[in-house]
This record gives sequence, structure tokens and C-alpha cells, in this order.
Amino acid sequence: MLLQVLGTAAGGGIPQWNCACPGCSGARAHPHWRRRHASLAVQAGEDHWYLVNATPDIGDQIEARPGLQPGPGLRQTPVAGLVLTDAELDHTLGIARLREADSLQVLATAPVRQALLDRLHLGAVLGPYTSVSWRELPPRGAEPLDGGGGGGGGGGGASAVQISAIPVSGKRPRYAADAPDDDAWVIALRLYEPASGASAVYAPALAAWPDRLQQAAAEADVVIVDGTFWDDEEPRRTGISTRTATGMGHLPIDGPGGTAELLAPLAARCLYTHLNNTNPLVDPAAPEHKRLARLGIEVAQDGMVIEL
Ligand code: MLT
Ligand code: MN
Ligand code: ZN
Repeated sequence: MLLQVLGTAAGGGIPQWNCACPGCSGARAHPHWRRRHASLAVQAGEDHWYLVNATPDIGDQIEARPGLQPGPGLRQTPVAGLVLTDAELDHTLGIARLREADSLQVLATAPVRQALLDRLHLGAVLGPYTSVSWRELPPRGAEPLDGGGGGGGGGGGASAVQISAIPVSGKRPRYAADAPDDDAWVIALRLYEPASGASAVYAPALAAWPDRLQQAAAEADVVIVDGTFWDDEEPRRTGISTRTATGMGHLPIDGPGGTAELLAPLAARCLYTHLNNTNPLVDPAAPEHKRLARLGIEVAQDGMVIEL
């Protein structure tokens, strides 16, 4: 299985356009601190990639990775579709940027699709530009990703990767705060390659750590999860919010109930993504990197290629 890390920042990015916090100022002064919005590309077949989440940076993210650039046909693209982990704006604003596509396949859970259609009106808005096909990600069972190339029989091609949704929490985006509760508002993705038996878990938004996620993480080769905030007080201490990290729907990395103590015992290669610009990990020289390294945990970098 081949994964490409397209971005590793939380909403706003690093630097965020209206922010002069130490992380954002540092990123203006030191380009290697910069991070694009969190996203992952998954190879489903030869020249056939799915992007997990569509960020405001999606055009630049596609352009930055040779395997995702178009050609040789005039409008031939290896980007086969999108998989969404939630309906948050930092993971969905990029959908409209792909309106030049001949057609666009979007895999999402029912509440996420409903929010995009009923609240953001993406169906009505994109209809005149492209043909969007919405495929439901059921909260149980595995779905093959279309591998392209038509390998064997009609329909979609041989699929290298199966995808399953693990419901994580009922955290809704602010624009859908009054929408019905459902534990599939936010999911973790399990990516499984039957040919090799390899599996990966991708969960950039974690308000909780349910048993099914623990089970998938315990069996996985790679686990990439929500590293928005270092500790629970970070949003209040840095002055960006009156809420704690958990109050904002993000389990912190450090401290009791934090994700570091959940990841440390796993056999998998574990990495953090979706870093907020207030997170001390934004500074590559921060001592927090050494603390994670001692636990065997990494911080994902934009452009990382993960082969498993
Ligand atoms: C989040 O991860 O909590 C959201 O993306 C916040 C936001 O919409 O800015
Ligand atoms: Mn986010
Ligand atoms: Zn900032």
C-alpha cells in the first residue's frame, strides 16, 4: 500500500492568514515550519489515487506530488475520487476547487453527505460544473476503492485497497450544530490491502477513542491520528479559545486520557497529523519532539511517502 501525506495542519494551516502566534510567525520566518491542511493520498491502483479530505490547499497539494499531476491525456487525472472523514470546512472546502473535473466521486458517511448537500448546498452549486457521484461509506463493512484500469470483468478495475469507516464521534461542524446526532459525523478510516495484509488507520479528528478504533489500531501497520493540540489547556493558554482541547472535540496528545499513552503501546508506526498552529510541535526544535520520539511516536511531515 502506498500513502502520500499531502498536508499535516489543522484548520487555518501553518501559517494561518490572520494569525501572528509564535507558530505562524515562525512559519513566515522559516519556510520549513510551514504545513498545508491535513490530507492523505491513497493509491488504489496504477495511476489511481483517492484523496482523503478536500482541503482549501487541494490544488497546490495535487500539484506538489508528481504522482497526482495530470496527463498524458489533456484532462486525464490520476485523482479518482475523494474520501471524507468528516464534514468540517478544512476537510471539505476543497471539493468546490475540483469543479473542473469531468466527474467527481465522493465517499462519505450519510450525515456528512447530508451536511454537504443540505447546509453547504454543494450538490446544487456544483451541478452546473461537474457530475458528482456520492457514494455512501457505511459505518460497518469494507468497501473496495476503484483501482481503475478495468482489471477483470466489467465495472471498476481491480482494487488494491479496501476502505472501512469506524464511527468516532457525533462532533458536527459549527455550520451544522443543530443537525441530528449520529456517531458517523466523524470517522476514522481503516485502509486494508488484501494482497499484502497491510493496514493503515487514518483519523485526523478524534473527540473519542472508541473500542473499534483501538481494535483497528492494534492490528494496523501504520496509525496516523489527530495531533491538533499538545495538551488540553493549549487553546485557552494560547488565547485562541475559551474551550479546552477536548471541549473543541480534539483529544490532546499529552496528559492523562491523551493519545500519546494510547499510541505508545501499539506495534504500529504511529504519526500525528492535523497540528494546530498553537501546537509546540510546529517548531521542529521543540523539546516535545524528543518526548514523542522516546515513546516511539512520530510527527507526520508534508510530502512524506509511506509504503507498507
Ligand atoms: C476542527 O478540526 O475542529 C475544525 O476543523 C475547526 C474549524 O472548522 O476550524
Ligand atoms: Mn479540522
Ligand atoms: Zn497561529
